[in-house]
Amino acid sequence: MKSLIVLFGFYPLTSVLAQQIQPPTITTTVNPAYLAANCTNCHGAKGTVAPGSIPSLDGLQKEYVIEQMKAFREGKRQATLMHQLAKGYTDEQINLIAEYFAQKTTGK
Ligand code: HEC
Repeated sequence: MKSLIVLFGFYPLTSVLAQQIQPPTITTTVNPAYLAANCTNCHGAKGTVAPGSIPSLDGLQKEYVIEQMKAFREGKRQATLMHQLAKGYTDEQINLIAEYFAQKTTGK
């Protein structure tokens, strides 16, 4: 009997707690600089790359970067690496990355 009282005594508390537990909100807001950091590993940070190497993305037109990424992804542009990399990004992420690089200056 005592244990029943204890059980029911806890009931209201647990039901209140259950109501307060919310599923985590999934946020899609990503700092574009974090996404773009994956690119600068190869394309160079601050527009500085050795001549003849992988080109800098700084200052490239947003539409151009979006077009190239989609062309790589769909196999319309030949590539050694980019066709594989481009598949890892959603359209939304590509937009953010392209916007980020378009706003950067070439550093020249
Ligand atoms: C592992 C190295 C590497 C990484 C990381 C990388 N790229 Fe590339 N990128 C290349 C190479 C190499 C090329 C030349 C095409 C090829 O052979 O794949 C290229 C070409 C490009 C081009 C075409 C440039 C032009 O002048 O036409 C764009 C645009 C581009 N990359 C965007 C990106 C973006 C955006 C990211 C990040 C999401 C990224 N790259 C990450 C190596 C890389």
